[in-house]
Amino acid sequence: MPFHHEQVCVRRGPRSGLPLIVAVHSTALGQAIGGCRITSYPHWSDALDDALRLSAAMTDKCAVAGLPNGGGKTVVAVPPEGITDPAARRAILLDVADAIDALDGAYVTGPDVGTSPEDMAVLAERTPHVFCRPQQAGGSGDSSTHTAAGVVTALHAVCDAVFGLPQLGARRFAVLGLGRVGAHVARHLAAAGADLVVTDIDTTKRQLADELGAAWRDPDSALYAEVDILVPAALGDIFTPGTVSRLRCAAIAGPANNQLDEPDTADLLHQRGILWAPDFVVSAGGVIHATAIELHHETTEQATARVRGIGDTLARILRDAAQTRVTPAAAALTLARNRIPRAAPTV
Ligand code: PHE
Repeated sequence: MPFHHEQVCVRRGPRSGLPLIVAVHSTALGQAIGGCRITSYPHWSDALDDALRLSAAMTDKCAVAGLPNGGGKTVVAVPPEGITDPAARRAILLDVADAIDALDGAYVTGPDVGTSPEDMAVLAERTPHVFCRPQQAGGSGDSSTHTAAGVVTALHAVCDAVFGLPQLGARRFAVLGLGRVGAHVARHLAAAGADLVVTDIDTTKRQLADELGAAWRDPDSALYAEVDILVPAALGDIFTPGTVSRLRCAAIAGPANNQLDEPDTADLLHQRGILWAPDFVVSAGGVIHATAIELHHETTEQATARVRGIGDTLARILRDAAQTRVTPAAAALTLARNRIPRAAPTV
Protein backbone atom coordinates (compact mmCIF):
# COMPACT_ATOMS: atom_id res chain seq x y z
CA MET A 1 0.00 0.00 0.00
CA PRO A 2 1.53 3.39 -0.92
CA PHE A 3 1.98 5.79 1.98
CA HIS A 4 -0.23 8.82 1.39
CA HIS A 5 -0.37 10.29 4.88
CA GLU A 6 1.32 13.57 5.70
CA GLN A 7 2.34 12.43 9.16
CA VAL A 8 1.49 9.74 11.65
CA CYS A 9 2.38 9.89 15.33
CA VAL A 10 2.57 6.45 16.97
CA ARG A 11 3.50 6.41 20.63
CA ARG A 12 2.95 4.57 23.87
CA GLY A 13 1.06 6.98 26.09
CA PRO A 14 3.55 8.01 28.81
CA ARG A 15 0.82 8.00 31.49
CA SER A 16 -1.46 5.23 30.23
CA GLY A 17 1.11 2.90 28.67
CA LEU A 18 -1.36 2.31 25.83
CA PRO A 19 -0.74 2.46 22.06
CA LEU A 20 -1.87 5.84 20.74
CA ILE A 21 -1.97 6.92 17.10
CA VAL A 22 -2.67 10.33 15.60
CA ALA A 23 -2.85 10.09 11.80
CA VAL A 24 -2.87 13.24 9.68
CA HIS A 25 -3.83 12.18 6.19
CA SER A 26 -4.09 15.54 4.45
CA THR A 27 -4.03 19.25 5.17
CA ALA A 28 -4.32 20.19 1.48
CA LEU A 29 -7.71 21.85 2.10
CA GLY A 30 -6.92 23.10 5.61
CA GLN A 31 -6.47 21.84 9.15
CA ALA A 32 -7.02 18.08 9.34
CA ILE A 33 -10.08 17.09 11.41
CA GLY A 34 -11.37 13.78 12.72
CA GLY A 35 -12.62 12.21 15.91
CA CYS A 36 -10.74 10.48 18.72
CA ARG A 37 -11.61 6.79 18.92
CA ILE A 38 -10.93 4.82 22.10
CA THR A 39 -11.68 1.15 21.62
CA SER A 40 -10.09 -2.30 21.70
CA TYR A 41 -8.35 -4.15 18.85
CA PRO A 42 -6.94 -7.65 18.52
CA HIS A 43 -3.45 -6.12 18.07
CA TRP A 44 -2.09 -2.57 18.31
CA SER A 45 -1.16 -2.68 14.62
CA ASP A 46 -4.89 -3.10 13.84
CA ALA A 47 -5.41 0.23 15.61
CA LEU A 48 -2.75 1.77 13.38
CA ASP A 49 -4.46 0.34 10.27
CA ASP A 50 -7.78 1.72 11.47
CA ALA A 51 -6.30 5.17 12.10
CA LEU A 52 -4.73 5.21 8.62
CA ARG A 53 -7.99 4.24 6.90
CA LEU A 54 -10.27 6.40 9.05
CA SER A 55 -8.12 9.50 8.58
CA ALA A 56 -8.05 9.01 4.79
CA ALA A 57 -11.85 8.70 4.80
CA MET A 58 -12.06 11.99 6.72
CA THR A 59 -10.21 13.72 3.86
CA ASP A 60 -12.91 12.58 1.43
CA LYS A 61 -15.68 13.34 3.95
CA CYS A 62 -14.54 16.96 4.38
CA ALA A 63 -13.94 17.49 0.65
CA VAL A 64 -17.40 16.20 -0.36
CA ALA A 65 -19.00 18.28 2.41
CA GLY A 66 -17.25 21.38 1.01
CA LEU A 67 -15.36 22.04 4.25
CA PRO A 68 -12.02 23.88 4.35
CA ASN A 69 -10.50 20.94 6.24
CA GLY A 70 -8.43 17.86 5.60
CA GLY A 71 -8.62 14.45 7.22
CA GLY A 72 -7.13 13.04 10.40
CA LYS A 73 -8.00 10.64 13.20
CA THR A 74 -6.84 9.61 16.66
CA VAL A 75 -7.06 6.01 17.84
CA VAL A 76 -6.20 4.60 21.27
CA ALA A 77 -6.17 0.80 21.62
CA VAL A 78 -7.51 -0.24 25.03
CA PRO A 79 -7.71 -3.75 26.55
CA PRO A 80 -10.79 -5.83 25.60
CA GLU A 81 -12.40 -5.27 29.01
CA GLY A 82 -12.27 -1.49 28.43
CA ILE A 83 -11.24 1.23 30.88
CA THR A 84 -13.59 1.82 33.79
CA ASP A 85 -11.29 3.50 36.32
CA PRO A 86 -11.76 7.31 35.97
CA ALA A 87 -8.08 8.03 36.76
CA ALA A 88 -6.93 5.59 34.05
CA ARG A 89 -9.32 7.17 31.58
CA ARG A 90 -8.06 10.63 32.41
CA ALA A 91 -4.49 9.44 31.89
CA ILE A 92 -5.41 8.29 28.37
CA LEU A 93 -7.07 11.59 27.55
CA LEU A 94 -4.08 13.63 28.78
CA ASP A 95 -1.77 11.45 26.66
CA VAL A 96 -4.01 12.08 23.65
CA ALA A 97 -4.08 15.83 24.32
CA ASP A 98 -0.28 16.05 24.45
CA ALA A 99 0.10 14.07 21.21
CA ILE A 100 -2.39 16.36 19.43
CA ASP A 101 -0.82 19.50 20.83
CA ALA A 102 2.61 18.43 19.58
CA LEU A 103 1.27 18.65 16.00
CA ASP A 104 1.00 22.44 16.35
CA GLY A 105 -2.48 22.76 14.88
CA ALA A 106 -2.05 20.49 11.86
CA TYR A 107 -4.93 18.46 13.32
CA VAL A 108 -8.02 19.13 15.44
CA THR A 109 -10.03 16.40 17.12
CA GLY A 110 -13.61 15.75 18.20
CA PRO A 111 -15.63 12.88 19.68
CA ASP A 112 -15.90 9.46 18.04
CA VAL A 113 -16.52 5.85 19.06
CA GLY A 114 -15.74 5.61 22.79
CA THR A 115 -15.42 9.35 23.52
CA SER A 116 -17.86 12.06 24.61
CA PRO A 117 -18.09 15.87 24.84
CA GLU A 118 -16.96 15.56 28.49
CA ASP A 119 -13.80 13.82 27.28
CA MET A 120 -13.23 16.71 24.86
CA ALA A 121 -13.30 19.10 27.82
CA VAL A 122 -10.47 17.09 29.42
CA LEU A 123 -8.42 17.27 26.19
CA ALA A 124 -9.00 21.03 26.12
CA GLU A 125 -7.14 21.35 29.45
CA ARG A 126 -3.94 20.74 27.49
CA THR A 127 -4.61 21.65 23.85
CA PRO A 128 -6.81 24.19 22.04
CA HIS A 129 -7.25 21.82 19.06
CA VAL A 130 -10.53 20.25 20.19
CA PHE A 131 -14.14 20.49 18.95
CA CYS A 132 -17.42 19.48 20.60
CA ARG A 133 -16.75 20.29 24.25
CA PRO A 134 -20.05 20.52 26.16
CA GLN A 135 -21.93 23.74 25.41
CA GLN A 136 -21.52 24.98 28.97
CA ALA A 137 -17.75 24.58 28.52
CA GLY A 138 -17.84 26.72 25.34
CA GLY A 139 -18.03 24.00 22.67
CA SER A 140 -20.73 22.93 20.22
CA GLY A 141 -21.64 19.89 22.30
CA ASP A 142 -22.67 16.38 21.34
CA SER A 143 -22.21 15.84 17.59
CA SER A 144 -24.21 12.61 17.43
CA THR A 145 -27.62 14.28 17.00
CA HIS A 146 -26.25 16.23 14.04
CA THR A 147 -24.62 13.18 12.50
CA ALA A 148 -28.02 11.46 12.85
CA ALA A 149 -29.82 14.44 11.26
CA GLY A 150 -27.47 14.14 8.29
CA VAL A 151 -28.21 10.42 8.01
CA VAL A 152 -31.95 11.14 7.96
CA THR A 153 -31.61 13.64 5.08
CA ALA A 154 -29.48 11.07 3.24
CA LEU A 155 -32.19 8.42 3.77
CA HIS A 156 -34.76 10.74 2.17
CA ALA A 157 -32.47 11.19 -0.84
CA VAL A 158 -31.95 7.42 -1.11
CA CYS A 159 -35.70 6.70 -0.88
CA ASP A 160 -36.33 9.28 -3.58
CA ALA A 161 -33.68 7.78 -5.87
CA VAL A 162 -34.70 4.14 -5.35
CA PHE A 163 -38.47 4.31 -4.80
CA GLY A 164 -39.36 7.68 -6.38
CA LEU A 165 -40.69 8.96 -3.03
CA PRO A 166 -38.62 10.65 -0.30
CA GLN A 167 -40.96 9.61 2.56
CA LEU A 168 -39.49 7.23 5.14
CA GLY A 169 -42.77 6.05 6.70
CA ALA A 170 -43.66 3.60 3.96
CA ARG A 171 -40.33 1.77 4.08
CA ARG A 172 -38.71 -1.03 6.04
CA PHE A 173 -35.28 -0.36 7.60
CA ALA A 174 -32.72 -2.35 9.55
CA VAL A 175 -30.58 -0.20 11.85
CA LEU A 176 -27.34 -2.06 12.64
CA GLY A 177 -26.03 -0.62 15.90
CA LEU A 178 -27.84 1.42 18.56
CA GLY A 179 -24.96 3.55 19.80
CA ARG A 180 -25.51 7.27 20.07
CA VAL A 181 -26.00 7.97 16.35
CA GLY A 182 -27.85 4.72 15.58
CA ALA A 183 -30.30 5.27 18.45
CA HIS A 184 -31.16 8.79 17.22
CA VAL A 185 -31.75 7.50 13.69
CA ALA A 186 -33.90 4.60 14.94
CA ARG A 187 -36.02 6.99 17.01
CA HIS A 188 -36.54 9.23 13.99
CA LEU A 189 -37.51 6.32 11.75
CA ALA A 190 -39.95 4.98 14.35
CA ALA A 191 -41.52 8.44 14.73
CA ALA A 192 -41.89 8.64 10.93
CA GLY A 193 -43.87 5.40 11.05
CA ALA A 194 -41.29 3.20 9.34
CA ASP A 195 -41.19 -0.57 9.78
CA LEU A 196 -38.05 -1.18 11.84
CA VAL A 197 -35.60 -4.00 12.52
CA VAL A 198 -32.77 -3.17 14.95
CA THR A 199 -29.76 -4.88 16.46
CA ASP A 200 -26.72 -4.26 18.64
CA ILE A 201 -23.99 -6.46 20.10
CA ASP A 202 -25.00 -5.01 23.49
CA THR A 203 -28.24 -6.85 24.33
CA THR A 204 -29.28 -4.23 26.92
CA LYS A 205 -30.18 -2.09 23.89
CA ARG A 206 -33.15 -4.39 23.37
CA GLN A 207 -35.04 -2.10 25.72
CA LEU A 208 -34.89 0.69 23.13
CA ALA A 209 -36.21 -1.72 20.47
CA ASP A 210 -39.22 -2.48 22.68
CA GLU A 211 -39.76 1.21 23.38
CA LEU A 212 -39.78 1.97 19.63
CA GLY A 213 -41.91 -1.02 18.68
CA ALA A 214 -39.00 -2.29 16.57
CA ALA A 215 -38.21 -5.96 15.90
CA TRP A 216 -35.01 -7.00 17.72
CA ARG A 217 -32.71 -9.40 15.85
CA ASP A 218 -29.23 -10.72 16.45
CA PRO A 219 -26.57 -8.83 14.43
CA ASP A 220 -26.28 -11.47 11.71
CA SER A 221 -29.96 -11.86 10.98
CA ALA A 222 -30.44 -8.06 10.98
CA LEU A 223 -27.66 -7.74 8.39
CA TYR A 224 -29.38 -10.25 6.12
CA ALA A 225 -32.96 -9.14 6.85
CA GLU A 226 -35.27 -8.49 3.93
CA VAL A 227 -35.61 -4.71 4.12
CA ASP A 228 -35.70 -1.70 1.82
CA ILE A 229 -32.71 0.02 3.42
CA LEU A 230 -29.88 -1.13 5.68
CA VAL A 231 -28.50 1.55 8.01
CA PRO A 232 -25.02 0.51 9.26
CA ALA A 233 -24.45 2.49 12.44
CA ALA A 234 -21.76 0.50 14.26
CA LEU A 235 -18.15 -0.30 13.40
CA GLY A 236 -16.82 -0.69 9.85
CA ASP A 237 -15.73 -3.53 7.57
CA ILE A 238 -19.17 -5.13 7.41
CA PHE A 239 -19.48 -5.40 3.62
CA THR A 240 -17.17 -8.02 2.17
CA PRO A 241 -17.55 -10.25 -0.91
CA GLY A 242 -18.96 -12.88 1.49
CA THR A 243 -21.58 -10.70 3.19
CA VAL A 244 -22.60 -8.81 0.04
CA SER A 245 -23.69 -12.03 -1.70
CA ARG A 246 -26.19 -12.69 1.13
CA LEU A 247 -27.77 -9.22 1.49
CA ARG A 248 -31.51 -8.82 0.88
CA CYS A 249 -31.88 -5.04 0.80
CA ALA A 250 -32.43 -2.51 -2.00
CA ALA A 251 -30.09 0.14 -0.61
CA ILE A 252 -27.57 0.91 2.15
CA ALA A 253 -27.05 4.28 3.83
CA GLY A 254 -25.69 4.76 7.33
CA PRO A 255 -23.19 6.62 9.50
CA ALA A 256 -20.65 3.85 10.23
CA ASN A 257 -17.23 4.82 8.86
CA ASN A 258 -15.34 2.51 6.47
CA GLN A 259 -18.24 0.13 5.83
CA LEU A 260 -16.49 -1.60 2.91
CA ASP A 261 -13.58 -3.99 3.50
CA GLU A 262 -12.04 -2.85 0.19
CA PRO A 263 -13.00 -0.10 -2.27
CA ASP A 264 -13.86 -2.75 -4.91
CA THR A 265 -16.72 -4.01 -2.74
CA ALA A 266 -18.68 -0.97 -4.00
CA ASP A 267 -18.63 -2.61 -7.44
CA LEU A 268 -19.97 -5.89 -6.02
CA LEU A 269 -22.86 -4.04 -4.38
CA HIS A 270 -23.56 -2.23 -7.65
CA GLN A 271 -23.53 -5.51 -9.59
CA ARG A 272 -26.09 -6.92 -7.16
CA GLY A 273 -28.33 -3.90 -7.84
CA ILE A 274 -27.90 -2.59 -4.27
CA LEU A 275 -27.47 1.18 -4.01
CA TRP A 276 -24.63 1.98 -1.59
CA ALA A 277 -24.67 5.60 -0.43
CA PRO A 278 -20.99 6.30 0.37
CA ASP A 279 -20.41 6.40 4.15
CA PHE A 280 -18.16 9.45 3.89
CA VAL A 281 -21.06 11.41 2.38
CA VAL A 282 -23.79 10.15 4.73
CA SER A 283 -21.82 10.54 8.01
CA ALA A 284 -20.64 14.15 7.63
CA GLY A 285 -23.31 15.81 9.82
CA GLY A 286 -21.23 15.88 13.01
CA VAL A 287 -18.18 17.44 11.47
CA ILE A 288 -20.29 19.87 9.38
CA HIS A 289 -22.16 21.07 12.47
CA ALA A 290 -19.08 21.38 14.70
CA THR A 291 -17.11 23.40 12.13
CA ALA A 292 -20.12 25.61 11.30
CA ILE A 293 -20.52 26.59 14.96
CA GLU A 294 -16.96 26.59 16.27
CA LEU A 295 -14.93 27.58 13.20
CA HIS A 296 -17.32 29.75 11.19
CA HIS A 297 -19.31 31.04 14.21
CA GLU A 298 -22.61 30.40 12.48
CA THR A 299 -26.01 30.28 14.16
CA THR A 300 -27.73 26.99 15.03
CA GLU A 301 -30.12 27.58 12.09
CA GLN A 302 -27.25 28.07 9.64
CA ALA A 303 -25.45 24.99 10.95
CA THR A 304 -28.64 22.89 10.71
CA ALA A 305 -29.18 24.05 7.14
CA ARG A 306 -25.66 22.99 6.25
CA VAL A 307 -26.27 19.52 7.72
CA ARG A 308 -29.45 19.27 5.64
CA GLY A 309 -27.29 19.95 2.58
CA ILE A 310 -26.06 16.34 2.88
CA GLY A 311 -29.34 15.21 1.28
CA ASP A 312 -28.80 17.52 -1.72
CA THR A 313 -25.15 16.50 -2.06
CA LEU A 314 -26.08 12.81 -2.01
CA ALA A 315 -28.94 13.36 -4.51
CA ARG A 316 -26.46 15.04 -6.85
CA ILE A 317 -23.95 12.18 -6.46
CA LEU A 318 -26.64 9.57 -7.15
CA ARG A 319 -27.76 11.50 -10.26
CA ASP A 320 -24.17 11.86 -11.52
CA ALA A 321 -23.57 8.15 -10.90
CA ALA A 322 -26.69 7.11 -12.84
CA GLN A 323 -25.91 9.45 -15.73
CA THR A 324 -22.27 8.46 -16.10
CA ARG A 325 -22.95 4.77 -15.30
CA VAL A 326 -20.52 4.56 -12.41
CA THR A 327 -21.08 3.55 -8.77
CA PRO A 328 -22.15 6.25 -6.29
CA ALA A 329 -18.79 5.61 -4.59
CA ALA A 330 -16.91 6.49 -7.80
CA ALA A 331 -19.05 9.59 -8.37
CA ALA A 332 -18.50 10.76 -4.79
CA LEU A 333 -14.73 10.19 -5.00
CA THR A 334 -14.58 12.17 -8.25
CA LEU A 335 -16.35 15.04 -6.50
CA ALA A 336 -13.95 14.82 -3.53
CA ARG A 337 -10.76 14.54 -5.59
CA ASN A 338 -11.77 17.47 -7.83
CA ARG A 339 -11.89 19.65 -4.73
CA ILE A 340 -8.55 18.55 -3.27
CA PRO A 341 -5.49 20.29 -4.68
CA ARG A 342 -3.08 17.74 -6.09
CA ALA A 343 -0.67 16.42 -3.50
CA ALA A 344 2.97 15.80 -4.28
CA PRO A 345 3.44 12.46 -6.08
CA THR A 346 4.15 9.56 -3.78
CA VAL A 347 6.93 7.06 -4.35
N1 PHE B 1 -16.39 11.57 14.87
C1 PHE B 1 -17.16 12.16 13.84
C2 PHE B 1 -16.44 12.02 12.51
O1 PHE B 1 -15.38 11.43 12.47
C3 PHE B 1 -17.59 13.57 14.16
C4 PHE B 1 -16.61 14.66 14.46
C5 PHE B 1 -15.25 14.59 14.29
C6 PHE B 1 -17.12 15.83 14.89
C7 PHE B 1 -14.43 15.66 14.54
C8 PHE B 1 -16.33 16.89 15.13
C9 PHE B 1 -14.98 16.82 14.96
O2 PHE B 1 -16.92 12.40 11.49
